[in-house]
Amino acid sequence: MKKAKIVVSKDGPYIVTGGLPMDTQISGLDADGEPDTWVNGKKYSLQAEYNLCRCGKSKNKPFCDGSHETSHFDGTETASRRPHAEESEILEGPGVDVANAYNLCVRARFCHPKGGIMELIQNSDDPESKKAAIHEACNCPGGKLVPFDKKTGKAIEDNYRPSLSLLEDPQKGVSGPVQVKGGVAIESCDGQAYETRNRVTLCRCGESRNKPYCDGNHVDSGFNDGDKSLK
Ligand code: FES
Repeated sequence: MKKAKIVVSKDGPYIVTGGLPMDTQISGLDADGEPDTWVNGKKYSLQAEYNLCRCGKSKNKPFCDGSHETSHFDGTETASRRPHAEESEILEGPGVDVANAYNLCVRARFCHPKGGIMELIQNSDDPESKKAAIHEACNCPGGKLVPFDKKTGKAIEDNYRPSLSLLEDPQKGVSGPVQVKGGVAIESCDGQAYETRNRVTLCRCGESRNKPYCDGNHVDSGFNDGDKSLK
């Protein structure tokens, strides 16, 4: 089996190789009705290679059916190639620091509960607030937020195996991006590599202005891939 890799094809699908497993993850709410957990959804059969729709128009989502050609999809990649560390501002707290790359927000709202992550970071001398800040940052699907241990300076990350998750947001009634987890290589159509990270999200609605990454525009465009969790 080849090493897992995703190639962003020019105005076409994501070409996935290396037998990456894929499932659906559904945004679950806490007692206050705010996103707090990811709930396991459908698991897809394992395939060595597959093409994932990124124009949002396929009638066979999440897979490509060639609709990008008939819809004349413009998939121009506009995202920064700079690493997350250079794109981020560090939000410092007494118990934890969090790197925040604003342009990677996918509007999943996992940083909203318990007063919001800014307040939790500020109050992170309190162990409960620190724990909640780390939980919220680690659940940020696009890796916009990355918590750092203040003593070691190391990133705190969940341990993911290389895999893909199609995200669903029933509260907003929309489907979201494809989350790429566990350090899978992503290559631009020009052959240049994006930073390999533990979690990033790729647009699959076709409407992001930060392609290939998701920028949350699927919420406004009402993207729906037909997943049953949205009904
Ligand atoms: S999937 Fe989020 S902007 Fe396209």
